[in-house]
This record gives sequence, structure tokens and C-alpha cells, in this order.
Amino acid sequence: KHDVLTTIVVFGASGDLAKKKTYPALFHLYQQGLLPRRTRILGYARTQMERDSFTSRVTSFFKKDTPPADIEGFLAICGYVSGKYDVAEDFIRLREEIDQQEHAMAKRAEDERVHIYYLALPPSVFVSVGTQIRTNVYDGSCTNRVVIEKPFGHDLESSRKLSKDISALFAEDEIYRIDHYLGKEMVKNILALRFANVFYEAVWNRHYISNVQITFKEPFGTEGRGGYFDEFGIIRDVMQNHLLQVLSIVAMHQPQSLRSEDIRDRKTEVLRRILPIQLEDTLLGQYVGTRDGSKPGYKDDDTVPKGSMTPTFAQCVLHVDNDRWRGVPWVIKAGKALDEAKMVIRIQFKDMPNALFPNLARNELVLQVSPKEAVYIKTIVKEPGLSTNLAMSELDLSYHKRYQDVKIPDAYATLILDVLNGDHSNFVRSDELDEAWRIFTPLLHQIDSDQVIPLPYEYGSRGPKGVDEFATERAGYKLTSREYHWQPKSAT
Ligand code: BG6
Repeated sequence: KHDVLTTIVVFGASGDLAKKKTYPALFHLYQQGLLPRRTRILGYARTQMERDSFTSRVTSFFKKDTPPADIEGFLAICGYVSGKYDVAEDFIRLREEIDQQEHAMAKRAEDERVHIYYLALPPSVFVSVGTQIRTNVYDGSCTNRVVIEKPFGHDLESSRKLSKDISALFAEDEIYRIDHYLGKEMVKNILALRFANVFYEAVWNRHYISNVQITFKEPFGTEGRGGYFDEFGIIRDVMQNHLLQVLSIVAMHQPQSLRSEDIRDRKTEVLRRILPIQLEDTLLGQYVGTRDGSKPGYKDDDTVPKGSMTPTFAQCVLHVDNDRWRGVPWVIKAGKALDEAKMVIRIQFKDMPNALFPNLARNELVLQVSPKEAVYIKTIVKEPGLSTNLAMSELDLSYHKRYQDVKIPDAYATLILDVLNGDHSNFVRSDELDEAWRIFTPLLHQIDSDQVIPLPYEYGSRGPKGVDEFATERAGYKLTSREYHWQPKSAT
């Protein structure tokens, strides 16, 4: 595939997503020699920019120690077209530019060609830009791929409307819906762990697993992004997409093959078995400023409406109603302005039946997605030495120790590489998206209609009152003795 004539158009090239994620990811692929040999990247946005301001903008998030020659080489394949998002002539100009670039790369009748349209844009212009692309840029004689990213609507109905509008323009197999969690190393690893090791799958069910927790914690608030965030809240921002996607991979049955549609079929199948979440099974919070005034509360942000009741923290229990999982509670939790940065999947096993030893703690398999990739299994051993007591220990695979020379790429780099390869496995299909909204929409609507007030929690704390008891009370989670702490191995 290295010879495919490839054009990548980044819409919204002057915006935040493009600057922070899209261009650095494209650059990473370029540096690794993973872009097809003949690739051109065209930025498109409304801002009129000279070459200089364009290049300083798109390179502003490149690593500081990048060799200038790499940047120069990369910029040589980048161009920029400015235009409006709803003006046909501007898109016709873009099409002409694409044609010209392709000719410069020696377009011949036998050349296989790919056009990738990356919409790093707010959803309000998805359809208008999509329509312009379809009418004035789309080239039926080559492969066309459209990349879009959330928010995909704000509830089931609005998401269906958006899907319908987009499907009128592009076929499902031309659409790549990004959920960047699917590009994270440890999330991609779940499939390998589960289906390439004989012992995980053997216990991967309600007979052995007591409960599962999927947790997302951020140590900062919505500073500066409050305007966007307030319309969505933590459930739409993180849970309905990132956490539910992860859950579906942990819970799904083994796919028939590694083909993307087989994988997505299995994910959709398990989502279909998830019952809509109930308000009674949910704990909502909103952060307030620290007592010493050093950190602001959510509502202290000028971009947040004064009386906002938008949750910045949520924790809920979900149930997967199939033979594998019936009776196993899944606790998902997400919060801003908490005590640490962490994303983990914690699978707690049941008590040992007919235990020979008294008062055993439970085994857990923990997959740490971030900050440092790790998989560890909390395992009971005889306390080493003369003692005959038992102690909780761990089998630990810490990536930074085990794979010291490997640089784990940003999620966007692996996802863009998938788009280049035409691989949909790590992208959200429209029926998956629909199921995800079905699960959350009744709850979201009830929160609005009942005007549910989120519980306050202090910036930098573990969350609102009740956060720690929640998993114990609602999911039967048993805390390992407080003396046990997993200490990730250091790299030396
Ligand atoms: C985004 C959310 O999708 O994911 C943000 O909109 C959140 O609110 C971010 O901070 C987290 O992503 P990551 O890769 O930093 O864990």
C-alpha cells in the first residue's frame, strides 16, 4: 500500500484539535516512514494565513527536540487552502488544488488513489462541510474516507439525525468515527490479552468474576473549556463514548475473525445486551473550589453559566444481560478535578470457593491504560521468609520496564494509520453509536427533567461523598487491605 497516491485534507486546520492532535500524529507517521511514499496533506480552514503563520501553527505541538530537517521535510508535503465551510467555489478551488497536487505526484490512470477528509471541526458544520465535499470535491474514481469525531449528537434522537444526514452523503464503509480511546495501547491490547492467552478467557465470565470497574480520573477541571463542557457534561464527554467502548471490548465474545466487521459485530452485540442506566444507580458530582482558594470551582469559570447543574463527575452501575455476565455489576466512573490522572480497568474475581486459608483477599486483574501502561494481577503468595502468613502481591507487567526502548505512539497516530490502511476495527460503527446513546439517553433526559443536583466535591479530592462506598455497596467490590499498594516497577 506504500505506493497509493494519497491526499489528506485536514478541515479545521487552524483549530485546536488539528494543532494538538492531527498534525502531530501525521508528523509522527511521517517521521516513522509510515505515510505512503506519495502523500500530500492539505489544510483547509476559514482563516487567511500566510505560509509562515500556517507552518508555525501546525508545528506548535511538535516535540521540542525534533530535528529541523524532519520538520522541513514534513512541511514540504503540506499545503493550505483557506475557504468558508459553506461556499461551493471555495471547495471547487480545493478540488483543483488536490488535482494539481496529484498531478505533481505523477498521477497516471493506473495509480491507486485515496482521498482522506479529516473533519477536525465542530459538529455544527459536519453536514455542511460533508455536503460540500460530496458535491464539489468527492471523486468517485478513487477511494474516499471521511474521519469525524465526537460529539455525535447529544442524545439518541440528535445522534440518529446526524447519522442519517451523514449517511446520505457517505457510505458507512467510507466513514471513520474516531473514539481516541480505541487507539490507546492498552485498549488495543485487550483483544490480544483475552484471545491470545488460554487462561484469561477461561475465567472471563460470571462464574469467576465478581465485578468490573472502569475508571477515568483527571486532576484538572474544565478551565477554559467550560463553555463546551457545560452543554455536554461528563457522561456525554467521557462515559457514553470512551468508557463504554472500553467496556464493550472487555465484555464482548470472541469475534469470528480479526476482520473489522467481525469485531464490531461482537461489540455491538454486547452493547445491545446492556440495560439503560437508572438514575438510582448513579452518583453525580460537580467540583467546587478548594478551601484555601487555590483552585477554582466549576461554576467559578466565567464560561460556565451561573446556576449550572452539569455533572463533572459521575459513577454508575451497568448490567450486561447475557449468559456470560448476568449478575456481574460493571461500575463506570469518570471525573474532572479529582486527586490523580488515571484510567484503569479493574476486574475483581470472586472469593476462592472452599478456601483452605481463612479471610482471603480477592484476586484482581488490573489494566492500567494511563498514565503508564501496565497489566498486573493481584496474586496472593506466602509471605516470603520464615512467616507462614499470606500476603497480597502482584504479577506485574509494567510496560516502561519491560519495553524500555519502545515509544508508545499517541492514539491519534495509530488511528490515522488505520485510516490509511482502510482498517475500521478501531472506529465506531453507526449501530454501536446508536446503542451507546440508547443506554445513556433515558438517564440524561431524566437528569435534565428532574433537575438533579450533583453533589459537591472539592477540587483535587476523590469525588463526592459516597464515592468509595459506591462500588462496595452497589457492586460487591471488596477492598484489598489498605496496607497493599501496587508499586509500579521503576525502569532501572
Ligand atoms: C476527550 C474529552 O474526549 O478525552 C476530554 O473531551 C478528556 O474532556 C479527554 O479530557 C481525555 O483524553 P486523554 O487521552 O487525555 O485521556
